[in-house]
Amino acid sequence: VKKIAVFTSGGDAPGMNAALRAVVRTANHYNLECYGVREGYNGLINNDFTRMGPRSVKNIITEGGTILKSARSLEFKTKEGRQAAYENCKKLGIDALVCIGGDGTFRGANIFNEEFGIKVIGVPGTIDNDIFGTDNTIGYDTALNTAMEAIDKIRDTATSHNRVFFVEVMGRDAGFIALNSGLATGAIDILIPEQKDSIEDLFRTFERAEKAGKASSIVVVAEGEKLGSIYDLAKATKAGFPDYDIRVAVLGHIQRGGSPSCADRVLASQLGYAAVVGLMEGRTNVMAGLKSNQIVYTPIEEAIKKHNEIDPGLLKISEILAI
Ligand code: F6P
Repeated sequence: VKKIAVFTSGGDAPGMNAALRAVVRTANHYNLECYGVREGYNGLINNDFTRMGPRSVKNIITEGGTILKSARSLEFKTKEGRQAAYENCKKLGIDALVCIGGDGTFRGANIFNEEFGIKVIGVPGTIDNDIFGTDNTIGYDTALNTAMEAIDKIRDTATSHNRVFFVEVMGRDAGFIALNSGLATGAIDILIPEQKDSIEDLFRTFERAEKAGKASSIVVVAEGEKLGSIYDLAKATKAGFPDYDIRVAVLGHIQRGGSPSCADRVLASQLGYAAVVGLMEGRTNVMAGLKSNQIVYTPIEEAIKKHNEIDPGLLKISEILAI
């Protein structure tokens, strides 16, 4: 490969900038020409390329969001959109793409590679941690810490008022943020889509908490929880326990922002570097990941089809420790 382009796509994640910096500087180190593409796949379609060198990424390792901007491109889902994107890459002589994002981004990369043969490599950037082929995705650690700090603050007011709080965290269909932030903040219950929950179980937990003398509590709910919306859960609980003073807090996009944690900066640096090296080694349609501290390359198709398992042991520990 001689000329590569890099973009960030899908939901932004803290550490995307650090990954971009690693891609640009590794490319420079190995004398590859590097272009940044604005707004993900939309930039490929709209011919929005910009030449990037080591100074274009100065000081961005500390910054949240993505300086290239991101988008969930609807146009790229159409054959015409992808054709236009390919023409633009061809015109500029781009022979490989580094795609930083989550499963939607990888689905796009996979189909683009299969249709037009352009080389693609994925770098997993999403707060959800729902990508197979890497122990952690870039942004997950920062989002977890953001959620933890927010729940800690909710704990203060919950305790002062003897209240029950239902707190919703992000994760799309995955419960990683909920499970780990819940354990880290002493939630009495953690509801995640990977686990079959019932309202009866939740009520039993409240009863146990009461018997143990707890006057306030926090239930962490993953946004993908199948039992019902957080408001339905709060309503059902109020019906079952009319004396409870219940509040709901949805943490939302606060979890996507902020300066990346040290772990995310290091991971992003490793994976951005590994993506460029992988391309130079002739790899394509794979994702660079880190498993047990080793760089591994997983076929993109596998990375989006398979799922990392949640650790049921963590749920059990949380159950024992919370009350
Ligand atoms: O994939 C990251 C994520 O933040 C999910 O946790 C959430 O379900 C979704 O993106 C929200 O998407 P949007 O920012 O488009 O509302």
